[in-house]
Amino acid sequence: MATRFQVLPGFRDFYPDDCAARNYVFDVWRKVSRRYGFVEYEGPMLEPTELYTRKSGAEIVNQLFCFTDKGEREVSLRPELTPTLARMAAARHRDFRKPMRWFSIGQFFRYERHQKGRGREFYQFNCDLLGETAAAADAELIALAIDLMRELGFTTEHFRLRVSDRNAWVRFAESKGLEGDGIASFLQIIDKMERTPEEKTRELLGVFGITLEAVRKLIGSGAEVSPVLAEVVENLQQRGLGDYVEVDLGIVRGLAYYTGIVFEIFDIGQGMRAIAGGGRYDQLVELIGGVDLPACGFAMGDMVITDLIRATSEPCRRLDEAIAADGAVDVWLVLADETKQAEALSLAQTLRDAGFRVALPLTPAKVVKQFQQAESSGAITAVVVGSEFPEVAIKDLAKRTETRCAAAALVGALRDLLGNS
Ligand code: HAM
Repeated sequence: MATRFQVLPGFRDFYPDDCAARNYVFDVWRKVSRRYGFVEYEGPMLEPTELYTRKSGAEIVNQLFCFTDKGEREVSLRPELTPTLARMAAARHRDFRKPMRWFSIGQFFRYERHQKGRGREFYQFNCDLLGETAAAADAELIALAIDLMRELGFTTEHFRLRVSDRNAWVRFAESKGLEGDGIASFLQIIDKMERTPEEKTRELLGVFGITLEAVRKLIGSGAEVSPVLAEVVENLQQRGLGDYVEVDLGIVRGLAYYTGIVFEIFDIGQGMRAIAGGGRYDQLVELIGGVDLPACGFAMGDMVITDLIRATSEPCRRLDEAIAADGAVDVWLVLADETKQAEALSLAQTLRDAGFRVALPLTPAKVVKQFQQAESSGAITAVVVGSEFPEVAIKDLAKRTETRCAAAALVGALRDLLGNS
């Protein structure tokens, strides 16, 4: 019996509808980042493993798809883009005006336990602002993240962006006598607190002489513990986006390179994993490329957001509309008289040259069947080439109306009908 191959665990096939859904999300990511003046860039899929072991933290390093290549180099499929961005920015930072507003859409790989909303392969939108220390830069990114959600059709009913300041925790840890790696380990405990049993957290904190009550007190204190956090929140309120934002000092983020404001987006009511996350990382470019370039940024994956779109009515309606539009041609050419095949082919070529999406029968078929195919494909119009040629009939398949025109005038007639310029 022939072997039946299956997709590897955590990897996905993208059939046309899945690709259309993915591309719809990509289009929104691109459209909104351009509104904020961001430009697109890309890096390589494979990087030296050391790029990730430098400062991303234990969690991501354990999840690397890494191997030795034929040139005996230790390499990894990229699990995230930020270290690559830091490398690229350090190498050519003089060539770009500051602040640099860069975004990227690409595929990433993490050898994680396969679960809902998490794959071993996923797409991520990355958006970063480099060369600006002001809190206004953090706020600008947060506003962009909120606008991505709004553009997809989500409202305050559906999500919150939770923002925090990692420095509030660093100051707290220092006041308890911690330093260096101790602070990093302490931040890991706070990051995992929500998913860890209370007794375990108590025990872990106890090693540092810190009580759970002291930690909870800080979490309960809000924006006043950090002037930068208060400034970011005020900036967002001035934009009219305050209702989407919640100060939550419980957010510290798992990646080790963050140095200030950090944030994550969560759904309301569905209990899904984080939709997006990011923050300020003022030392990473220096650490990776030896250039002092403060930066902040965030990333949104394609998996959780697509699950959430499908679970929410208005975002789902927009997605379905985009998928239907993606698969539908403008013109389904119906050949009603087989002796006119040459004329039909020539007409199809003219329409395609003019930019229309055109489908035509590849084998002879009854006219009724051709119309059925046109209707079920979601085509917008059918153009009938029959014995009256050079006159053709244009049928609007949704409105069920028919008009006739000369083949030579068809491009103009279709532009009027379809609203193309
Ligand atoms: P991250 O929190 O590791 O941050 O990932 C950001 C987002 O990517 C997550 O919120 C989630 O939507 C998605 N994501 C991550 N891992 C997976 C996975 N295994 N499967 C599906 N989706 C996933 C970063 O990657 C930072 N580099 C973001 C950043 C950019 N910080 C500054 N600039």
